[in-house]
Amino acid sequence: MARTAPTGFLWGAATAAAQVEGAAHEDGKEDSIWDTFARVPLAVANGDTPEHAVDHYHRMPEDVALMRELGLDAYRFSVSWARVRPGDRHLNTAGLDFYSRLIDELLGAGILPWLTLYHWDLPQALEDRGGWTERDTAYRFAEYAVQVHDRLGDRVRHWTTFNEPLCSSLIGYAGGEHAPGRREPRAGLAALHHQHLAHGLAVHELRTRGAEQLGITLNLTNAVPHDPSDPADLDAARRLDALWNRAFLDPLLRASYPDDLLADLAGHGFEPIVHDGDLAIIAAPLDFLGVNHYHDDNVSGRPAPADDPPALRPTERETSSPFVGSEHLSFPSRGLPRTAMGWEVNPSGLRTLLERLTAEYPDLPPLYVTENGSAYDDEVADDGAVHDAQRVAYLRSHVDEVLAAAAGGVDVRGYFAWSLLDNFEWAWGYGKRFGIIRVDYATQERTIKDSGREYSRIIAGARAAMPR
Ligand code: FCB
Repeated sequence: MARTAPTGFLWGAATAAAQVEGAAHEDGKEDSIWDTFARVPLAVANGDTPEHAVDHYHRMPEDVALMRELGLDAYRFSVSWARVRPGDRHLNTAGLDFYSRLIDELLGAGILPWLTLYHWDLPQALEDRGGWTERDTAYRFAEYAVQVHDRLGDRVRHWTTFNEPLCSSLIGYAGGEHAPGRREPRAGLAALHHQHLAHGLAVHELRTRGAEQLGITLNLTNAVPHDPSDPADLDAARRLDALWNRAFLDPLLRASYPDDLLADLAGHGFEPIVHDGDLAIIAAPLDFLGVNHYHDDNVSGRPAPADDPPALRPTERETSSPFVGSEHLSFPSRGLPRTAMGWEVNPSGLRTLLERLTAEYPDLPPLYVTENGSAYDDEVADDGAVHDAQRVAYLRSHVDEVLAAAAGGVDVRGYFAWSLLDNFEWAWGYGKRFGIIRVDYATQERTIKDSGREYSRIIAGARAAMPR
């Protein structure tokens, strides 16, 4: 059955600089926090590092040709701050040249460049000065954003400031599973607010310079109370919703932090971090909101049952709770199928999320699903193909939910598969594969998986059925 998508709906795929580029120390690039973190014993599974990744830096024309073969409308990629401003000292033209070549290659192939300025790879030199716990880092980010825009703004229309600030603040600075690996609750909160501020400052600067389409990408969840008749579970769901969703949505779209979040965070020193005037900067109008969604969260305020399978962890390194102020939360199993990450498969959650945003935020800008996808333990068949039937099913069912949301009145204008290529999956290293294109890490050879072929058919079918 052909799928019907709204007119102009964009079909894309996404990657991030540190996960695919490699060339981590070439043409003037210096360490980002992920290069440094990956050298810490036990930080990343198998001792993997982003040093070579999937060599997108050198194989970019081949990768753009693959995107064209799939029929993509758009490519979502990120710019590496540590490549463009090594050590955040000065502009590195050679580093910026890579993105200029990439954009020309994309435009030549009829593919829209969808640029993200920050996908977690802070220059290590800035981390050495306190990183995102320092307010000054927000101003450094705005400066970097301006330099990237000065060079690429003539050809890039869609600008995303941050990807998933939740991960680069609470998980990197309070939980410690991500770079820089700090485990300090207040540092997580400071990073969260300073990334919001950085976003607002950059939006203002880029708007002044004529940028037309400005947005941010958040990873949002449906916080599902494990037992909806248990007040402890209802409170747990409220807390998770406050910290994981509304701590981001509300300052951006309503110029305030939710009262219940502030109460949950009492005693963690959050409020003094927020200066007068910050929220007005942060709530600068947006042209789109990117939504990343992989799974819902079934949450409880009680300890998980003893017979629940333990959550999968990338390494044995000690981490802390990223749920600042709500450290007691647990995530009991509810028996849904799971991916190789241990993440629940529950496609209707994506539609529920898009509908909820539409219902609750009157000033919501148009939505794009900027990431959705699945990791499975792929096998290469004797014929050299990857018959990733589970990923095909995941893809189809999630696309269907997005289109059903659109048909029901949600203003969602695009879908980006995560990921174009197998890549460096952060603390999990190369062990978890999300690509719709396989990468053989020994030879860097690319093979379109069944899911990639299926995506191509979905795109062609929807395009043919698109109302004119
Ligand atoms: C998201 C990240 C992305 C990728 C996917 C699996 O949280 O934005 O880089 O790692 O998860």
